[in-house]
Amino acid sequence: MRIDVLTLFPEMFVSPLSTSILKRAQDKGLIDIVLTNIRDFATDNYRKVDDKPYGGGPGMVMMPGPVFDCDEYVQKLSPEKGRVILLTPQGQKFNQKKACQLSKEKRLILIAGKYEGFDERIRIGLGAEQISIGDYVLSGGELAAMVIIDTIVRLLPGALGDEDSPKDDSFSQGLLEYPQYTRPEVFRGMKVPDILLSGDHKKIAEWRHQQALERTKKYRPDLLKME
Ligand code: 6GU
Repeated sequence: MRIDVLTLFPEMFVSPLSTSILKRAQDKGLIDIVLTNIRDFATDNYRKVDDKPYGGGPGMVMMPGPVFDCDEYVQKLSPEKGRVILLTPQGQKFNQKKACQLSKEKRLILIAGKYEGFDERIRIGLGAEQISIGDYVLSGGELAAMVIIDTIVRLLPGALGDEDSPKDDSFSQGLLEYPQYTRPEVFRGMKVPDILLSGDHKKIAEWRHQQALERTKKYRPDLLKME
């Protein structure tokens, strides 16, 4: 898989991409992540990429020219046409199901903008879908792009260690994850549930499913109502 990120702040991605699972997945060749600076496609001497909104109002809007030119350049870097995604609070809300769908694509182009928003012609002209990571406002799409990259990459076959598997993750079966324990058996008076020490794998699986259901009912009843 290949993910291109178009951003004004490529340096924001350096540390997250060179740490832990994201680093290992790139080292293993499971994912190729390419950062391209939109500002390199500005056409004036000031490297301007944003301007005042027509009709007035606060803030600045991302100009279409640099984003279009950047997308055209990036699309040509690889033969596979990328599915274009604009990161914006106006987008469809991201979730585990969407992550699972996107993880099956060969190539994604993620466009992160700063400022109040994108000129509408960017969405229309690039045939972009819009994704938001939740109902709050970030100062730019970069952190959202990182959230999406992280959730997708850990779903790629081989990205997690052998013993780890994304299938037990919270949300992957529509439920929160069951409670986990590790050593010591007693910690500050709190004991690991006996069933987990019993060695009865069938009973343990049943207990975990029951716990996952109860937790979901208690903390995220909204998850049980959907679909
Ligand atoms: Cl994708 N961008 C911005 N700027 N804010 C957000 C978001 C995206 N998702 C939630 N809030």
